[in-house]
Amino acid sequence: MKNILVIGATGQIGSELTMKLRGIYGNEHVVAGYIRGAEPKGILLESGPAEICDVTDGAAIDAVVKKYHIDTIYNLAALLSVVAENKPMLAWKIGIDGLWNILEIARENGCAVFTPSSIGSFGPETPRDQTPQDTTQRPRTIYGISKVTTELLSDWYFNKYGVDTRSVRFPGLISNVTPPGGGTTDYAVDIYYAAVKGQDFICPIAEGTYMDMMYMPDALNACVQLMEANPVRLAHRNGFNIASMSFEPGEIYREIQKHRPDFRMQYQVDALKQSIASSWPNSLDDTCARNEWDWNPTFNLESMTVDMLEKLSARLA
Ligand code: SER
Repeated sequence: MKNILVIGATGQIGSELTMKLRGIYGNEHVVAGYIRGAEPKGILLESGPAEICDVTDGAAIDAVVKKYHIDTIYNLAALLSVVAENKPMLAWKIGIDGLWNILEIARENGCAVFTPSSIGSFGPETPRDQTPQDTTQRPRTIYGISKVTTELLSDWYFNKYGVDTRSVRFPGLISNVTPPGGGTTDYAVDIYYAAVKGQDFICPIAEGTYMDMMYMPDALNACVQLMEANPVRLAHRNGFNIASMSFEPGEIYREIQKHRPDFRMQYQVDALKQSIASSWPNSLDDTCARNEWDWNPTFNLESMTVDMLEKLSARLA
């Protein structure tokens, strides 16, 4: 039986991943790691163990790993791209100094580690359409620089010490549970909230800007499936391109309008977000993930829109 620590368990991915892992491996086997000010509440708090786990405090995390005999760490602590650009040193401290702490703890305690990378790990020199798995990665954001470093450092720990590190390059993640905070792709979540609340939406990303996106249920499956994958089949490790849909603002707007004909969107482009979005790929080629661990997403823009509108309407009613 696995014993899992989720660091960042109250965040955008962690809040749902922790509950999914508890469903699979048993409530007592999945520890929700959080930081002060982001304490778990409700079902997340009541269904299983929770501990303070600040990635910048390696000794405290080491104690939690030993206390619960942890063998797998999902390291989800990070600042998203726009926030990171405004707080670069904090982004590095959490993303890279924190990662060093986690990888050292993993080496000493024999843990596997999952640390997300991102479409943000690519830059303007990267091929834009069907971006290959192995290609140029020269990002222009501190977020992207920290993600490329995450991939390299994680691979180094695998090659040098045999630490079982694995990751995926997440696209923009869309969920009806915990909203993202300060990402370039957040508009694709915010637009659904506006539609359900009956408000007009001001889009900060320019018409025609394509980015890869993914519905959270597929993203959670990717985390679990990759960590369960047979290591013999893994030619890559950190991190796999994964993809399920790519769209530009006009396409998601028109998809929502099919269900909410009165919904209106206007553009008011945010310079920082647009410069980041323009430096990222239009779409990723995820053949390696499909071949090496059977990645196979289930949602597209149409089915995600139906589900998002239904779930958000029920929750916000
Ligand atoms: N969703 C992230 C961001 O926009 C990209 O991985 O920062």
